[in-house]
Amino acid sequence: MWRKNHLKIITKEKDEEKGSGKKAFTSVKDIQLHLKVVVLLTTCFMIWFLFLLGFSPKRIQRQLLSTTAAECRDNFSVYVYKLPTKYNFDLLRDCSNLNIYTDMCPHITNNGLGKTLPEMGSSWFTTHQLIAELIIHARIQNHPCRTEDADKSTLLYVPFYGGLHVSSKFREPNYTVRDALAVELVEYIQESKWWKKNSGRDHFMAFGRTVWDFTRSDEVADFGANKLLNMSPVQNMSVLLVERHPWEGHNQYGIPYPSYFHPSTSSEMVEWQNKMSYMDRIHLFSFVGAPRTGKKKVITRDRVIKQCEKSSDSYTRRSTFDSMLAGCIPVFFSNHTAYSQYQWFLPSDPTTYSVYIDIERNHTISIEEELLKIPKEEVERKRRTVIQLIPKLTYAHPNSTSYGFRDAVDIALKALSDHVSSFLKPS
Ligand SMILES: *[C@@H]1O[C@H](CO)[C@@H](O)[C@H](O)[C@H]1NC(C)=O
Ligand SMILES: *[C@@H]1O[C@H](CO)[C@@H](O)[C@H](O)[C@H]1NC(C)=O
Ligand SMILES: *[C@@H]1O[C@H](CO)[C@@H](O)[C@H](O)[C@H]1NC(C)=O
Ligand SMILES: *[C@@H]1O[C@H](CO)[C@@H](O)[C@H](O)[C@H]1NC(C)=O
Ligand SMILES: *[C@@H]1O[C@H](CO)[C@@H](O)[C@H](O)[C@H]1NC(C)=O
Ligand SMILES: *[C@@H]1O[C@H](CO)[C@@H](O)[C@H](O)[C@H]1NC(C)=O
Repeated sequence: MWRKNHLKIITKEKDEEKGSGKKAFTSVKDIQLHLKVVVLLTTCFMIWFLFLLGFSPKRIQRQLLSTTAAECRDNFSVYVYKLPTKYNFDLLRDCSNLNIYTDMCPHITNNGLGKTLPEMGSSWFTTHQLIAELIIHARIQNHPCRTEDADKSTLLYVPFYGGLHVSSKFREPNYTVRDALAVELVEYIQESKWWKKNSGRDHFMAFGRTVWDFTRSDEVADFGANKLLNMSPVQNMSVLLVERHPWEGHNQYGIPYPSYFHPSTSSEMVEWQNKMSYMDRIHLFSFVGAPRTGKKKVITRDRVIKQCEKSSDSYTRRSTFDSMLAGCIPVFFSNHTAYSQYQWFLPSDPTTYSVYIDIERNHTISIEEELLKIPKEEVERKRRTVIQLIPKLTYAHPNSTSYGFRDAVDIALKALSDHVSSFLKPS
């Protein structure tokens, strides 16, 4: 049935640092060394479970996703704080120094979508994996449920580009200086009359980086993080992040990493979903990643590479979303790669769309054998679910006014507003 079992090891041309990966490094020199290794190697870490031939998927129902002009179809509204521009747009002016590892100038273009990829069509961009805060800001600015009336709004969005800011200060040795803008922001927002109304509990921020970049602690060596998410007023707000703290993130919600597809209409979305449904899948699975040097977790990563096993520096990966966009069934080796992160976006039953292999429990388990055990019908069912999930995991084009599908931002705002209204209801 399977044409060929195939293990693909792809190294990315250029790598991007990830927050927690830097925990083990104590000096700028170490970080530079780490960077060199990382640039050669990769972060992209996922095993992709690809598909068999001769599988006949159902066409996505076009009428379910008809293209309608954007209008607020929900029972919530969102107000966007008009922050002093030093908290967002001014930061972009110095884009070549926004990230100590990468020149962000090409990545902040087109509202954070990045440069266009014309060979793929008008809805494809080379989107940077840690730029979600720009895209979300642009999406909410244009969102049909946006209101100018802060007093009546269900949600109040604080558009601070905190991820870009923290990555520009990773090398700042003076903590007071490193934290300054974040501390000022928190003071500023607390002074607002709208904050006082609900002690900030209807306020939220959204960041394109992982939680580890905003929770500096005395227990681990300094790797550049600030203290934003440890500040007590922030505990009253909700915070959207591409990776939340799996145990302590009571007010943190995982949002998808942005991928490259940013359609403006539902017909583009449906066309892509159909293309992925009918594509020949000739490999049982593929692995994208590379060996790394470093500490503890790397041992497991090396094992995956040897036999095709697991792990990396932080729990989550953008490639989870890239691969699902390509209609691949994700194979996870940790509950924190997706299940405990993206509950608003993924089905509550992980077996409906993914495969979990508990390698920690059985080190001799063979991934290939485990995957071959899965019946064809189950594979088809999972794959259909993955393809149906694509719209929710996608960031629609922020300038669009005519999309007819619910994208990641729609899902997040709706889930957040239901959550906020549930605990603000007078009892
Ligand atoms: C969205 O529209 C604005 C204003 O019309 C324009 O400046 C911007 O380039 C557009 N963004 C994208 C991603 O096309
Ligand atoms: C850190 O910066 C602050 C503010 O500029 C300054 O007052 C303080 O002396 C600096 N601390 C150190 C240890 O240099
Ligand atoms: C956070 O909320 C609590 C009530 O839950 C309130 O007592 C406290 O003052 C709030 N903090 C701030 C900074 O508003
Ligand atoms: C992952 O979650 C499943 C289901 O909740 C649980 O049975 C399993 O023990 C968890 N595995 C780990 C390593 O925590
Ligand atoms: C671990 O996996 C191997 C290979 O699939 C299997 O033979 C063995 O029985 C498993 N051990 C346990 C304790 O489940
Ligand atoms: C919107 O409706 C849902 C039920 O459909 C309800 O749970 C939620 O509280 C409502 N939200 C607001 C802001 O009224």
